[in-house]
This record gives sequence, C-alpha cells and structure tokens, in this order.
Amino acid sequence: MTQASVLAIILAAGKGTRMKSALPKVLHRLAGAPMLAHVLRSVAAAGIGRACVVVGPDMDKVGAAARAIDPKLDVFVQPEQLGTADALKAARAAFEGSDGAVLVLYGDTPLLRTETLKAVLGELEAGADVVVIGFEAEDPTGYGRLLFDDHGQLAGIREEKDASPAERALTLCNSGILAFRASKTLGRLLSKIGNDNAKGEFYLTDAVALARNEGLHARVVLSNAEEVLGVNSRAELATAEALMQRRLRAAVMANGATLVAPDTVFLSHDTEVGRDVLIEPNVVIGPGVTIDNGVTIRAFCHIEAAKIGPGATVGPFARLRPGAALAKDAHVGNFVEIKQAEIAEGAKVNHLTYIGDASVGARANVGAGTITCNYDGFAKHRTEIGAGAFIGSNSSLVAPVKIGDGAYIGSGSVITKDVPADALALTRTPQEEKAGWAAKVRARRARDKSK
Ligand code: UD1
Ligand code: CA
Repeated sequence: MTQASVLAIILAAGKGTRMKSALPKVLHRLAGAPMLAHVLRSVAAAGIGRACVVVGPDMDKVGAAARAIDPKLDVFVQPEQLGTADALKAARAAFEGSDGAVLVLYGDTPLLRTETLKAVLGELEAGADVVVIGFEAEDPTGYGRLLFDDHGQLAGIREEKDASPAERALTLCNSGILAFRASKTLGRLLSKIGNDNAKGEFYLTDAVALARNEGLHARVVLSNAEEVLGVNSRAELATAEALMQRRLRAAVMANGATLVAPDTVFLSHDTEVGRDVLIEPNVVIGPGVTIDNGVTIRAFCHIEAAKIGPGATVGPFARLRPGAALAKDAHVGNFVEIKQAEIAEGAKVNHLTYIGDASVGARANVGAGTITCNYDGFAKHRTEIGAGAFIGSNSSLVAPVKIGDGAYIGSGSVITKDVPADALALTRTPQEEKAGWAAKVRARRARDKSK
C-alpha cells in the first residue's frame, strides 16, 4: 500500500446548526484558514494522494472552497443527512472502481496531526483491515465508546444513545476517524449497515463489529483528546483556535524567534517567521505574512499579506496591509499604515503616515504625517519616491506622482506634479511676519479686562 494510493473522504454534510451561522460550519476559520483547509492540509502532509468531500444540498460554497484549495478534489452531495454511513455511500463513486485504502475524516475536526494520520496508515500497512482513532475522554458524553473483546481486541463501537449504563461508563472514545485497508471491504460493509438504532441513522461505526463478524482485524490508534476535538459551536471554535495558536507559537519559537508574551501574539496557519525575530506583545498577524531573519515587530502591530525583509523594524502600533513589502533594514514606525507598497532597503517611514500604492526608494526618509493621496474617488494611482529622497513632514503626495532620487520636499507641501531628482519642491504659501503684533494684542486684551 502506498500513501499516494489512499483516498481520504471528508464528511461535511452536517448542517452545523449549533454554530447559528449562515456560513457552512467547515468554512469557519481557524488561524485564518477554513477548518476544511486544515483537514485537507494534514491529509496532503501525510502523503495521501486523493481526497474528496461529502457536502449537503445547498452547500455549493463548501464545494467551491474545497476546489479552490485543491482543483482535483471531487465533491459529492449527500441528499439527506441519514448518518455517517449514508454519507460515505454518497461518495461511493470515488472508491468503487479501485481497491485502495480509504480514510474517513470529519470536516469539523481540524486539529488532527499528520503524525496521527501516518500512524493510521502504518496500522493498515501492518495488516489491519479497519483502523479507528480513539482517545481517552475526560467527559465521554456524546461520543461513541470503543468496545473490546476478552483478548483486548477492538470489537465494536457503541453510540452513546444506544449504550448500556456499563458501556456509558467507558471513557475510551471514537474520534470518528476511521480507515479501511480495502475499499471493497468498505463497500461491502456499508451495504450491511442498517439504521435500527436509537437515532434511526446509518452509523459508520457499525462497520467495526461487522468487520469482526467477517473475521477481519480492527485496530485502534490512540491520539490525545485535543487533536480530535470536534467543532460544533462557537465556543468550541474558540477552543480550537486557542489550541491551534499554541501550536503555531510553539513552532515559531522552536524555529528561533522570541515571543515576549506568546499568548498575546496571534499567528496565521501560513505565517513564516525567520530566526532571531523579536515579536513584542499584542501583535496580530493575518494570512500571507513572511517575516525574515532579525526582524523586530514592536508591540500592538496588525500585519496581513505582507513581506518583511531581514533586519527590518515595525511598530509599535503599525499596520501593514496586503502588498506591503519591506526590504532589508527598513523602518516603519508608530501609527504608520502601509498598503501595496515597497519600502526599499534602509528607508524610514517612522511616524503617523499613510503610504499606499507606492514605492519608497532605498534610504529615503518619509517625514511624520506624510500622506500618499492614492485615491481620487474613482481609481487608485501610484506614488514613486526615489532613493535617498527626503519628504518633509505633513506633506501630501497627490498620485500619480514621482519624486526623483535625492529630491527634497518642503514640509507641509501638497505635491501634484513630478519632482526631478535632487530638486527642492515647496508648495506652501510664504511666511508673513508682523513685528510686535502679538505683544500689541496682549496689551489691548489686558486693558479691556481691567476695565
Ligand atoms: C460521530 C460518531 C461517534 C464519534 C463522534 C466523534 C457515528 C455514528 N458516530 O458521532 O462515534 O464519537 O462522531 O465526534 O459516526 N455527517 C454527514 N452526513 C450525515 C451525518 C454526519 O456528512 O448524514 C458528517 C458531519 O458533517 C460531521 C460528521 O459526519 O462532520 C459526524 O457527524 P455527527 O452527526 O456530528 O456525528 P456524532 O453524532 O458526533
Ligand atoms: Ca459531532
């Protein structure tokens, strides 16, 4: 059996009523990616070659999201939610023709680790016909219980509603994740599964006892309770997010970054962080962010879809929006917003500034309060600031506009025309002085008051 020949079937047809959401449950996000994407990613990371998803009617969005992640993915519709075995029947076309292994996963179980999936595949390779991922539950309520025979072999799974008091006292539970070495076995077992049970549903879990009756071998792979956490409510979504964040932070620290207060730093599933990076407290990093070696992110920054080059400094209180690209040793300081703009090597944008749809040349200095006026109410336009340019504080650069290399913009200017290299541009009205004016006014006011 090669991992590439394994088919993963992800069940996601359940309505997810408890989420109380217009969005299908598996599209709710964890660390910036839909739950379904996390499941598909661990499947791919385990080397599993093929995956398909079972959705309910009116869940076109789930199908579309699945295909956006993997265009080769088949999406099957289960017309009515008659149970987990019925859901697999809806995907029959995916495994009927071949006889490879089939792994059944849930779309709402996003924390499953690749290592655990590999252990399941290992058991199949070692000769098990059916493998179940089990876990020791602190509170087993709601879960199927794993039943063992006198020889300690897995004999079946009993759903909570059908369990005797003695069975309910058991704490080793079914995670819901099952695997079958041969899809022909799965097909045969599925046709034997009935719905004569407390819920009147076709339980996939019945496949274990049926397999045993055929003399087949069923095995358990144990996982920790965390990684098989099922998300059914917003509260469980928050629990899963916290667990996922803990993993992401640990990975970043293991890779050589310092998080001063890890619990206050929020990462995304795809955040890349280099070595000797320092991240101060209260930083939120959205999807698509790359942070190179030696970067310092000071407190209270919000960063999305941005690239931060080696040695750069960001914040405190900076916002990097999509398309922000900071080169080596660039500085972006407090209350600065950067969007769709390249800040070249060593350039400084240190205070109270908006740079959007722009490029800032190497070692340029952008003064406090500078605004690139990139939007005219209809379209966005670019601002180009040359290498070594100096933009005086409180300047407005009305795009499209180019400031040449080494040019100098006087403070408070509104620049609407291109400025040649090394020139000085000034647009403010000349200063006027009235000698003694203030003293005269003060004296008059003092006289009026004393009357
Ligand atoms: C299931 C298991 C139970 C296990 C628990 C772990 C069965 C019969 N029971 O119970 O042993 O302890 O998961 O969380 O399998 N789904 C469909 N179509 C359906 C029904 C379900 O696609 O007709 C999907 C759901 O979207 C969900 C998954 O299957 O992703 C599990 O369904 P759910 O109804 O939540 O099963 P449980 O009762 O929790
Ligand atoms: Ca469930």
